[in-house]
Amino acid sequence: MELINRPRRLRQNDSIRRLCRETRLSPDSLIYPIFVDETLKGKRAIPALDGQFHYGLDAVCEAVEECIQAGVGRCILFGLPAHKDAVGSSAWDEHGVVQEAIRTIKAKYPDFYVITDVCMCEYTDHGHCGILCGHEVDNDKTLEVLAKTALSHAQAGADMVAPSDMMDGRIAAIRAILDEHGLQNVPIMSYSAKYASAFYGPFREAAGSAPSFGDRKGYQMDPHNRREALKECALDVEEGADILMVKPALSYLDVIRECSDAFDLPMCAYSVSGEYAMIKAAGAAGLIDEYRVMCESALSVFRAGADMLITYYAKELAQAMKKGDIG
Ligand code: PBG
Repeated sequence: MELINRPRRLRQNDSIRRLCRETRLSPDSLIYPIFVDETLKGKRAIPALDGQFHYGLDAVCEAVEECIQAGVGRCILFGLPAHKDAVGSSAWDEHGVVQEAIRTIKAKYPDFYVITDVCMCEYTDHGHCGILCGHEVDNDKTLEVLAKTALSHAQAGADMVAPSDMMDGRIAAIRAILDEHGLQNVPIMSYSAKYASAFYGPFREAAGSAPSFGDRKGYQMDPHNRREALKECALDVEEGADILMVKPALSYLDVIRECSDAFDLPMCAYSVSGEYAMIKAAGAAGLIDEYRVMCESALSVFRAGADMLITYYAKELAQAMKKGDIG
């Protein structure tokens, strides 16, 4: 048969397929979430997230060691404080759980890159991401505590801060306080387009951060919206964000594509707890090949335009990249 165009020529064997890959991945683009619990000694499995652990301050370096062994050089820290109150005051405590975790990690692994999640929901007794006024989160009052929290992380030695609260104006507020304190070189990664998603379920169990009433729809984005993601990103660019983020990842690949096309800042995607838990559960049930679905899912996020990925599979993905299964 006379066929001039035979796309299969480029798919004949692994060598040519790898030569022609359009999407190139590297362990350098992976960020691993680490949960540090102030009340814990050692480490404890997180039931909602099979294969993930809470770490005590005495054990957090174990988590880092495992990352380094696997080829992952960056983490994002989440804190579970011993004490919660209405305003989340332990979030900006100089000796709070995240601040101490940063110091502990940096003392042993100064080159390991530490990003911190900046939010109030793990620190407030009502579980909302800011300060309440009645049953609403007061945007402008919350900006002050977010800024103080980000500052305390940076002063403890965090390499980057990542606000995930979705208050209006938080990037400007955080940039201003960091700059006032001589921390001009600490970048801000903004959870720019963060949707009010059911995919955060396992995380809220892991972080003890579920709201005690209501939901987060008054501040996180409506999953119906696409243009609004562009607006949120544009505001963050104006306010001085260094890196933008779309979250969750898999159900929002269209948003990742559009935002990464529209802005020239690096684009991060967060493959959230529910995405991980679904793959784990389906794999454990024998319904899918966990390893291959993990690879394909991560790959799709990069193909959609993400430059970096926060994922509970970071260590396994780094290994998959080393082996050439993806990458
Ligand atoms: C804090 C925060 C959340 C996640 C990251 N930062 C939870 C939420 O907004 O309810 C979710 C991460 C995940 O599901 O893996 N606000």
